[in-house]
Amino acid sequence: YVIGIDLGTSAVKALLLDKNGAIVAEASKSYPLFHEHSGWSEQRPDDWVDGTIAALRELTSQPNVNADAIEGISFSGQMHGLVLLDEAGNPVRNAILWNDTRTTAQCREIEFTLGEQLLSITRNPALEGFTLPKILWVKQHEPENFEKSKLFLLPKDYVRYRLTGELHMDYSDAAGTLLLDVAGKSWSASVLEAFGLPASFCPPLVESHGLVGTLLPQSADDTGLPASTKVFAGGADNACGAIGAGILEEGLTMCSIGTSGVILSYEKNSASDFGGKVHFFNHGKEDAFYAMGVTLAAGYSLSWFKNTFAKGESYDELLSGIEAIKPGSNGLLFTPYLVGERTPHADSVIRASFIGVDGSHERKHFARAVMEGITFSLNESVDMFRKAGKTVDRVISIGGGAQNPVWLQMQADIFNANVIALENEQGPGLGAAMLAAYGCGWFDSLDACASQFVKHAAVYEPNEAAVEQYAGLFAIYQQVYAQTQGLN
Ligand code: XUL
Repeated sequence: YVIGIDLGTSAVKALLLDKNGAIVAEASKSYPLFHEHSGWSEQRPDDWVDGTIAALRELTSQPNVNADAIEGISFSGQMHGLVLLDEAGNPVRNAILWNDTRTTAQCREIEFTLGEQLLSITRNPALEGFTLPKILWVKQHEPENFEKSKLFLLPKDYVRYRLTGELHMDYSDAAGTLLLDVAGKSWSASVLEAFGLPASFCPPLVESHGLVGTLLPQSADDTGLPASTKVFAGGADNACGAIGAGILEEGLTMCSIGTSGVILSYEKNSASDFGGKVHFFNHGKEDAFYAMGVTLAAGYSLSWFKNTFAKGESYDELLSGIEAIKPGSNGLLFTPYLVGERTPHADSVIRASFIGVDGSHERKHFARAVMEGITFSLNESVDMFRKAGKTVDRVISIGGGAQNPVWLQMQADIFNANVIALENEQGPGLGAAMLAAYGCGWFDSLDACASQFVKHAAVYEPNEAAVEQYAGLFAIYQQVYAQTQGLN
């Protein structure tokens, strides 16, 4: 057996898989998010560790689980979050997360300092969510904390460190820091030097399927896993999502709707150039890459809507009746900029809107409009890929957005592409488990693992009339951004 751990923003989920890729058991624990000021988003790194240990303990205690037969474990993690460690290896402060937008000034500073090197080395623009701006923010605003900081990690690396005592980071997650030479697969000495950071500030780099060690005796006791369990580095949640969706060759696109939403496309080599308009990161598969556009508040928009207008109800209750509403939600349009937007606007200040409200609209029209608005936002990335010459005709859909057939058909109609749902879809946790399975030597390659573990289910084909109607609405959607700038 192998375990994949998905360290998300709202919860950690542990999945136990057998050699056929069948899910034998799962367990999940949630933890709080702290928003001390508008635009801030933090978590306690030790909440992740406690949650992971509790989830593993629950998994290994299930009556159908033979913990002694568990060979390997690996991780998928929320990206970019800054964990600063002191000399003794303890967190200096709370982690600053990917969806925290306090660092606009630091992004401008990075652009100014690095100039063209920013894109040529890191292959990405400076965005508030990325890690380097967060490091500079702490340096400028909390010098006493910065003084104590000897090394930085990303969220899942901290959890792995606490379980194994070993400090590492894999390329797919390191790519989201703005400190990595993405094509050269090494920490960039020029970027580190430009911001006065010592090389010792960065942990050793490894491949996602790389073995980093085994469990500390205490972690084995706490989790119920054998101390001999092999621990593999794992990857960024989007890289693991891609692995779990079988996005391991050119021509396939992934749509993942979790708290954030992404449209991700596999890239065989680092030469592809999107001019910094989308993110360009190392894949969890060796020497491969992916390009990706991000909607900051995807699933978060729907959970915000539910918590605000349907508190205590289930998603099924919230979404009942939406299938009977025609594309376009009877004239109601939503832009999902609740916490700003990444692709294509890279704007942390813009906020969301409902437009076209009619006296006849009920809650279900608003719910459907929220789903359409999230999908329109993701379509901006699809549109950008197409404009850069890519073919987007097969989209594998994962995450919360893949749980509802109405949303899957909506994706097919808005993206104007075949949308493929997976059997037993498990998001990034499956990719993490696949990294452990490959690392354990069960397969010669991740591709071989995917052909056994990733199974396509239904295909949703675009409906011509809906495609046309959504194309018209998308043109209006694209104008809302400029028209609502300056509202707040
Ligand atoms: C990607 C990003 C998010 C997080 C969510 O750049 O910020 O998708 O990875 O965990």
